Amino acid sequence: MNNDIVIKEIEKIKKENNIKIFAHNYQNYEVQQVADYIGDSFYLTKLAREIDAQTIIMCGVDFMAETIKILSPDKKVILPVKEATCPMANMIKAKDIENFKKENNDFAVVAYINTSADVKAVADICVTSSNAVKVIESLEENNILFVPDINLGNYISKMVKSKNIISWNGYCPIHDKVTKQEVINMKNKYPNAPVLVHPECRQEVIEVSDFVGSTSEIIEYASKLDAKEITIGTETGTLHVLRRLNPGKKFRLLSNNLICINMKKTTLEDVYNAVVGNSGYEVKVQEDIRVKAKNSLERMIELAR
Ligand code: 13P
Ligand code: SF4
Repeated sequence: MNNDIVIKEIEKIKKENNIKIFAHNYQNYEVQQVADYIGDSFYLTKLAREIDAQTIIMCGVDFMAETIKILSPDKKVILPVKEATCPMANMIKAKDIENFKKENNDFAVVAYINTSADVKAVADICVTSSNAVKVIESLEENNILFVPDINLGNYISKMVKSKNIISWNGYCPIHDKVTKQEVINMKNKYPNAPVLVHPECRQEVIEVSDFVGSTSEIIEYASKLDAKEITIGTETGTLHVLRRLNPGKKFRLLSNNLICINMKKTTLEDVYNAVVGNSGYEVKVQEDIRVKAKNSLERMIELAR
């Protein structure tokens, strides 16, 4: 079947079975084409609770599908490719947090949404890159352990001076590779193009860039920006959204290495197979873990308002 036929089939089966397709901003172009909703992890997380759907097919990585299941346990949640995971999320385990808490009972543990359900369950609260500063600022506790991203943790520390924030030493293998020199080179080559980066980049990269934000914040900022050309320092899939929304602007990727292989594992064929029920992984979360993880997520949603 060619892509046009596959897309039509997916649309038809979706309607007949009340299936909604969610896609993260980093997904392949063809996957974004069949998505009902595209966005960053915070937007998709909140939306899952609000919409009417029997089944949600989450095109992204495992923690995203799991987060949706935690908040919407009555919906069937499918991750089209089980192996699509986030290496950074796998850099912290629930046991690590339990051990830390035993020795540091005056710390609040804040888990980035890029974590497993087990980690969310033992954390005190979750954050995403778009609400981390606001949520952490409004916490009562002064001492914070932030897991697992050291780069986002350093960024939050800089923004929230009133808290004592220590970070786990995890990192996103894609954003962590971006260098300060790459930003400088792009600025020299294209002096009229502002550089917009994700807070999973290193501090020295953020310092020489013009804007820092989550994937959707980058999209929103770039769309409003009065500039004809813009350099983007996050995963390449974001360019599909930016080009669709801003046909008159030129977007360039800050580095050729900004490709998350896990986000690229999901193809149009995988989505088709998930929609027809031939394959895909149905997400399940043990109920006691789900309830505790849900509390951490609900607390975040409340404080991020
Ligand atoms: P967002 O919260 O910006 O969607 O980022 C998720 C992610 O995995 C970034 O690498
Ligand atoms: Fe994880 Fe980085 Fe891929 Fe985002 S881009 S899913 S943080 S590995």
